[in-house]
Amino acid sequence: MTDLKPARILAIETSCDETACAVLENGRALLASTVASQMDVHARYGGVYPEVASRQHVLSIVPVIEETLAKAHMTLGDMDAVAATRGPGLAGSLVVGLNAAKGLALGAGVPLVGVNHLEGHIYAAWLHAANEAPPPEPQFPLVALLVSGGHTELNLMENHLTYKRLGATLDDAAGEAFDKVARLIGLPYPGGPSIQEAAVEGDAAAFKFPRAWLEGTYNFSFSGLKTAVLKEVKRLEAQGSPLPVADLAASFQAAVVEVLFEKTMMAARKHDVKDIIVGGGVSANKTLREAFLSQAEFKVHIPPLKYCTDNAAMVAAAGYFRYALGHTDGMDIDVLPAWPL
Ligand code: KG4
Ligand code: ZN
Repeated sequence: MTDLKPARILAIETSCDETACAVLENGRALLASTVASQMDVHARYGGVYPEVASRQHVLSIVPVIEETLAKAHMTLGDMDAVAATRGPGLAGSLVVGLNAAKGLALGAGVPLVGVNHLEGHIYAAWLHAANEAPPPEPQFPLVALLVSGGHTELNLMENHLTYKRLGATLDDAAGEAFDKVARLIGLPYPGGPSIQEAAVEGDAAAFKFPRAWLEGTYNFSFSGLKTAVLKEVKRLEAQGSPLPVADLAASFQAAVVEVLFEKTMMAARKHDVKDIIVGGGVSANKTLREAFLSQAEFKVHIPPLKYCTDNAAMVAAAGYFRYALGHTDGMDIDVLPAWPL
């Protein structure tokens, strides 16, 4: 429970290939959450096919909202505000969720709250199931490491809704690197979970892949690492050797995790923060979680797995703080496909 005004929020998330809805109380207590994944539809293309994604959202959005309200044993009339992801994401997908949210807010006569998807990944750290005890609330100042399919960045938060970007990737996002390297070594989409699984049997020291430290900055770069894996794969293939997939996966994963962990620690020490938040799809990675939870000298908040990858509960959490702190929106808001924090 926060000391801000109480409110119940219904939130919608459709930025990529998940149609999601959630009902959340007071920014933290999750009453219901539904995520309809389109993963099977896109797997055959080896990635998300934007046109197909929008059309799947159109099909799923109303059933997903109805299912979520039913699970919460509530109606639209019980909500104080409706939130939706406004960006960043696929424009055609965002439009479906934002317009549904506008319709619901108009119908219920409650405010509309546009939420930044990345802000949602950070606020996932506030969530807990309504029937479980709340974990400690993140304390400011904090450093948030955001690692998703489209973004990798470090942000300093001195208070709610204030983000100072300390650094970001100069090329591929961490999740994108997992997805591309998985494809290179013959593992299925989505690459993050496939690499994690393959790496279990592998030796993380088998290949000495490069770490881009980019000294003196909090920026990241993963394209050199990806190229190093590609070169190794070509070398092994030219020799006619079978690919040591597990060793390649484990060595690649270790290189990504080491840089993410060390650079976050440097930022946390430099800014003398109280806490660290790790959010975004890549925060579901077991090796990354273990590094932060066992080695960090700060209090680390990493959401439970189900709140790491895209969901609407996190959008509801960010939406609550926006609403409670007076940042509501009018019916004239548009989607913002590129909307940095
Ligand atoms: O946050 P998210 O669900 O969607 C975006 O906002 O992009 O992140 C998706 C990304 C994908 O690149 C996926 O491969 C990665 O998160 N991911 C993982 C794991 N689970 C998902 N990466 C590493 N290890 C995982 N276990
Ligand atoms: Zn995401």
